[in-house]
Amino acid sequence: MTVRLPSVVGHRGAAASAPENTLAGLRRALALGVRCVEFDVKLTADGVAILMHDDTLDRTTDGKGRVAATTAAAIRSLDAGAWFAPEFAGERVPGFEAAIDLLLETGLDANVEIKPCAGRETETGAAVARILAARWPRDRAPPLLSSFAEASLVAARAAAPALPRGLLVKHVPADWRARLDRLDCATFHCSHRELDAATVAAVRGAGFPMLVYTVNEAERARTLFGWGVDCICSDRPEAILAVAP
Ligand code: G3P
Ligand code: MG
Repeated sequence: MTVRLPSVVGHRGAAASAPENTLAGLRRALALGVRCVEFDVKLTADGVAILMHDDTLDRTTDGKGRVAATTAAAIRSLDAGAWFAPEFAGERVPGFEAAIDLLLETGLDANVEIKPCAGRETETGAAVARILAARWPRDRAPPLLSSFAEASLVAARAAAPALPRGLLVKHVPADWRARLDRLDCATFHCSHRELDAATVAAVRGAGFPMLVYTVNEAERARTLFGWGVDCICSDRPEAILAVAP
């Protein structure tokens, strides 16, 4: 499966200028001129897919406790914007379906990161892929799924084989090629921190487009693009767009 990555992806929406993983954040990315956003999806206690990065509610809402131990109804009552800035007070934790609907309405593309709470890798990968496949129209290129959790990628493939997948890692492992092949992934996503030009050349030479995260400085982005990196995931996508090829 061939996937063309855009040169810039808004990280968790546009995390430097709007609360992460909210609909306001996705809209902010669009307003900044970004064509594609990344966001994280995990399951509530009652199995509802929501946008959230952390395993707990504490940092990005006015609630407390583990997402995996809290129902969707309880999470829906929380404020997910006021922690970031008063102008975002009243913003809610979006359900995955609401985020998909926003993509469909606006034409934004997405990299949907499957971010399971520990022990829920298979269940989360299957749910995310199933929901996306059921809701996404056949005549439009679907979002790219990615995950650090290989079990989630395996489950996503089983649930919706036609959805493209990317393997997400922090450090590039020696067996990156074997993992990509085994998981049938179309793209490779890694942290920019320990990356070097030779690794980028090897991955791209093997035919895998590369996304790197999280790069917020234009100078660093210029270097990475110079190495051949296809796509940069950024909290400040507008700064990276300014230097994108
Ligand atoms: O998908 C890239 C990036 O989002 C991975 O790290 O922790 O921000 O989800 P994290
Ligand atoms: Mg993420």
